[in-house]
Amino acid sequence: MSGQETEFTLAKIRRKWIDFFHRHDHEQAQSASLIPAGDPTLLFTTAGMVQFKSYFAGTSRPPHPRLSSIQKCLRTTDLEEVGQTDRHCTFFEMLGNFSFGDYFKFEAIDLAWEFSLQELGLDPDRIYVTVYLDDDEAADYWHNTIGLPRTHITKLGKADNWWGPAGETGACGPCSELYLDRGEQVCTCADKQACQPGNDCERFMEYWNLVFNQFHQDAQGQLTPLPQTGIDTGAGLERLAALLNNKSSVYDTDEMARIIVRIEELSSELRSDGKKLQYDPAHNPAPFRVITDHVRAATFSIADGIYPDNTGRGYVIRRIIRRALLFARELGIHTTILHRLVPKVIEIYKPFYANLAERQAEIEECIRLEEERFLRTLDHGMQYWESFLADHQKRAANQFDGQAAFVLYDTYGFPLEMTKELALKNGLVLDQSGYDQAMQAQQERSRSNAAWQDWQLPADLGLPKDFATSFSGYQAMESKGSIQGLVSMDGRRVDELQSGESGLVILDESVFYPEGGGQLGDQGTLQNDTALFAVSDCRKINGITVHIGELKSGVLKPTDTVTAVVDQDRRQALTRHHSATHLLNAALRTHLGEHVGQTGSLVAPESLRFDFSHPERMTEEQIGQVEASVLQAIQAAEPVQASVMPKADAQKLGAVAAFGEKYGDEVRVVQMGPQGGLSLEFCGGCHVANTGDIQYFHIVREASPGAGNRRIEALAGNAVLAWSRAEIAQILAEIEDFHQQAKGVTGSNTADYEKLTVPTSLGAATTRQIEQDPTAVQSVARELLLTRQRLDEARKELVRYQKKQSQAAASSLLEGVDEILDQAELVGDTRVITIQVESASADALRQLADKLREKSRNVVFLGACSAPKVLLLFAADKAAIQSGVHCGNLIKAVAPLVGGGGGGRPDMAQAGG
Ligand code: SER
Repeated sequence: MSGQETEFTLAKIRRKWIDFFHRHDHEQAQSASLIPAGDPTLLFTTAGMVQFKSYFAGTSRPPHPRLSSIQKCLRTTDLEEVGQTDRHCTFFEMLGNFSFGDYFKFEAIDLAWEFSLQELGLDPDRIYVTVYLDDDEAADYWHNTIGLPRTHITKLGKADNWWGPAGETGACGPCSELYLDRGEQVCTCADKQACQPGNDCERFMEYWNLVFNQFHQDAQGQLTPLPQTGIDTGAGLERLAALLNNKSSVYDTDEMARIIVRIEELSSELRSDGKKLQYDPAHNPAPFRVITDHVRAATFSIADGIYPDNTGRGYVIRRIIRRALLFARELGIHTTILHRLVPKVIEIYKPFYANLAERQAEIEECIRLEEERFLRTLDHGMQYWESFLADHQKRAANQFDGQAAFVLYDTYGFPLEMTKELALKNGLVLDQSGYDQAMQAQQERSRSNAAWQDWQLPADLGLPKDFATSFSGYQAMESKGSIQGLVSMDGRRVDELQSGESGLVILDESVFYPEGGGQLGDQGTLQNDTALFAVSDCRKINGITVHIGELKSGVLKPTDTVTAVVDQDRRQALTRHHSATHLLNAALRTHLGEHVGQTGSLVAPESLRFDFSHPERMTEEQIGQVEASVLQAIQAAEPVQASVMPKADAQKLGAVAAFGEKYGDEVRVVQMGPQGGLSLEFCGGCHVANTGDIQYFHIVREASPGAGNRRIEALAGNAVLAWSRAEIAQILAEIEDFHQQAKGVTGSNTADYEKLTVPTSLGAATTRQIEQDPTAVQSVARELLLTRQRLDEARKELVRYQKKQSQAAASSLLEGVDEILDQAELVGDTRVITIQVESASADALRQLADKLREKSRNVVFLGACSAPKVLLLFAADKAAIQSGVHCGNLIKAVAPLVGGGGGGRPDMAQAGG
């Protein structure tokens, strides 16, 4: 092959493929879309045969019994590997030839052999094959007819030599793969004589898979013979090009290399220092490779109508684009880059894929928007990530918090897999079940809301046409009512509820407030002498209040009378938060301006959330002023009154309405203070009788829910005291932890320890200050913030202190390098150096390993360190690798001993525990 390198461009291989199979009576099929037609079990087209599944199944007829194709494919199962290896791609092109009831095994082998020799010019002595365990027919044919020596034929099991189906069901069968021997010099096996196709070694490279389709696999995994046998072959185009041109990586083949050159050019435009980067396959090529692969995948997907989205295919594309941007940061590129590469991608591929050029503008725009969307939160997300990471490292945790991963996903748009990858890079394993729990809780919240919005009461309840439940719960907490109807949870009218059953109860009159105007529905009980129904939620469906819950005892019938009793403590907490929301609304309008309008709210027993129109983040000062105003209104202890009046009168009074809310002709107006001087709002909800009843108030967060709005989260009543107690307990515990840690690090050096301690005036008694004077919450919050800042600063200081210490330790390690070499153990010709140090950083161990490799040949370094955390770092030089050492495999085997995980390359690997 040498001397021909430049001849095998991808374009040339494509041409040869089509021409060769044309000469052998194959019709060329066009590449199908990346969205598999008519196969819901498959997310993407993952192989050339996907578009032909029904031909193999015999359910439709091919245009010709022999076809060939060059199929664009997307495989994302190994997404995290992309960039880390020489050959993984998500997007690639697959060359294929197919027979449907026409030729079978022998001719497929003949064709592959002829193409390999005649068209690709491969040396037959370098070709090896594998066949399925019991496929003697194929093995004998390769040997007897083709003339391959038996030593070039390996039998492998199902994992290697059985293919299909693509998706859950479809054609499958044994296969035979062709490999090219790249020479013993690239072999990394311990026993070179035993190296064979199908192992992990780089020596034998698979370049073509011949599948002998004989069976149909159903959804239960049952195999039945196909009505006719068929042939499906696949050769990865980029991989073949790499082999033919003697390149170790697919990313160094001609078309991908052109994208990489474009990234180099763009780097000087997009980096803040204007430096032009150079791609070097030997030195961290991952960012270049990831961006190259991912921009191809995104471009081709969008051209086929797969847009970035939150579910299914769209989510995969979103993940791919976001992952690429994360890697771009490793190149110092913090702005959009992918859409700028699209013109290059399209210039390269448009001769083969016409739809790319047609949709170029749309593809660029779509990718640009997605990049911008993600970049808007990426910085914040990275800050959040880093603070969490620092916290984990501080605690020497080896699990990354699932709840934090969910926040990264939900708030900052980090696909979970991306967080996993980041965590793994830092030696942390994600707490998947914590993440699942957080995700499930959120899904349940949105499902229960969405579900009730779609609810319809059964038509056969027999209620009068204009029936509406009358609400008597503004003052009273208890009422008598007669049951008007019972409904099962799946929406059917029932004539009876039995003990243990859940359902909906409709009363003529009720003190229960059904969720509305942001205020959550009441909880409580419905009871009579024999029955007790626990109400867990209360909603309004077309004017009818439904009490949702479970019958705890007795039986309920549609004619029964019950006493409805609202959970008073919960209702009181709700009213406090609701009234505080009104005062907050008024205070925002006072301090920010009349443009503030309510765009949403949530009044819960534990907290309140208020969304409002305002173009920018509030300053600390504004937040303080708003909070002070609400506290003042609470301290004024003014009466709260509600009255029903014609809408026009309410408007004349200047009552404030919520944005987008519909009101009838008669409205309820809630006034706080004389003439509504503190607040005057349209509102149907429940309120305290006097502003003083709200007792306490505190704003815990100001943020943006998106779309030009701001959101305030705040607490009222006892929730403020609970918050104060919890926050203080938390920070005191963290300070205590930190002090312990600082003590451990500084040891006997008490002066150094003193310098690191965190002063605070907070204590178990602090909350009492708020109880005595509710406005004290502002100074407590300030002290909390300052203490947090002091703690953060002290943590950084401790890291600096530790670094200095470990630098000193590293230099003393390096000074002892000759001595360490002397103590090496000889295993064969290899020097094995085992060292265990008390405290060192990964960097110190790495420096030592480099030094050892510089000073000696054929060395293996096995380093372990126990503080500040358990760390293993293995390294080997080229000579040692050639004699069979693989640091990545070694560390994988021993990492579990220290309760951790890790991995790496043959020459360097690391694990934490
Ligand atoms: N379907 C087989 C594969 O993907 C051969 O085309 O490897």
